[in-house]
Amino acid sequence: MTLLTDRYQRSIDYLRVSITDHCNLRCIYCTPLGGAVKLDHQDILSYEEFLRLIQIAVDMGITKVRLTGGEPLVRKGVTHFCRRLAALPGLQSLSLTTNGILLEELAEDLYGAGIRRVNISLDTLQPQKFLHITRRNEFERVWRGIQAAERAGFNPIKINVVVMRGINDDEILELAKLTLDRSYHIRFIEFMSMNNDNQWVLQHYISADEILAKLLTVASLEQIASQNTNGPARHFRWPDAKGIVGIISPISHHFCPSCNRIRLTADGKLRNCLFSDQEVDIKSPLRQGATDADLSQILRASIGNKPKEHCLQSDVFRKCQNRPMVAIGG
Ligand code: 5AD
Ligand code: SF4
Repeated sequence: MTLLTDRYQRSIDYLRVSITDHCNLRCIYCTPLGGAVKLDHQDILSYEEFLRLIQIAVDMGITKVRLTGGEPLVRKGVTHFCRRLAALPGLQSLSLTTNGILLEELAEDLYGAGIRRVNISLDTLQPQKFLHITRRNEFERVWRGIQAAERAGFNPIKINVVVMRGINDDEILELAKLTLDRSYHIRFIEFMSMNNDNQWVLQHYISADEILAKLLTVASLEQIASQNTNGPARHFRWPDAKGIVGIISPISHHFCPSCNRIRLTADGKLRNCLFSDQEVDIKSPLRQGATDADLSQILRASIGNKPKEHCLQSDVFRKCQNRPMVAIGG
């Protein structure tokens, strides 16, 4: 196995795979009002097709795979798919990002299938606000899903919070305090403009430094070495806390120089940067009988063309033109 690198000498070992563009929530920062245009069933890769592409990627040097959506758990047969993925030779880490709605039902099966790490999205601890943010009245179900994941053995439980000024920034402390007596990782993510209205972005963007300042009003935080070598989060801990607070700042602190990832969308497009609309169609060649070597070449070319960085710092209003977040998977 070779080490995969792009033309800026970044090593690429992480593939995020969106297995569906469907979701059972409608988060205001992710789904356009009125819903996103859904992909046709025949345009979505089958599990067999995903397995083939992922095996090729793993043979090329990808060691970590994360399943995303939409909401990955709404796709039928997902636990069986996970079991097959987990058995792929060479794959060292298989993880999942979920909104938690279906975890109460699926956590145990997912653990049994070989998934060890889940990131659960939860932006508020208040049911009414949850309804406002996700447009669905499902806070309790997600909370039970988190407990189910804990019982099933997932450790650590990582919770992703997208912070929006005037919406949930008043809950930063309360959410972070969950780490005092639980071994959770609470990760605050700077809100990124994808297909959102400019005025909305301006109103609700809040920088990582401001988030950190709020956390420091409780007690000084100890910064701890990043656990996930190439991951974009900075980690902190309050004295004696069981868990960890993470801050992910795609906008204010560039992590592009250490970016290690590429994405595969549910409709079989390779996306080499979250913010670049440059996509490569790998589904058509796959369905037209391309060999493993051909497909591997397409993957290598996409990695080779990975842009140096995104331009969100200089232009926070730059839009991701061709897809809403729900069709990329975060
Ligand atoms: N800005 C920041 N994070 C986002 N996510 C979705 N949309 C955005 C956005 N506009 C996050 C979700 C979830 C992951 C899939 O991506 O909170 O944790
Ligand atoms: Fe669904 Fe996640 Fe998007 Fe919310 S952020 S609408 S849960 S995909």
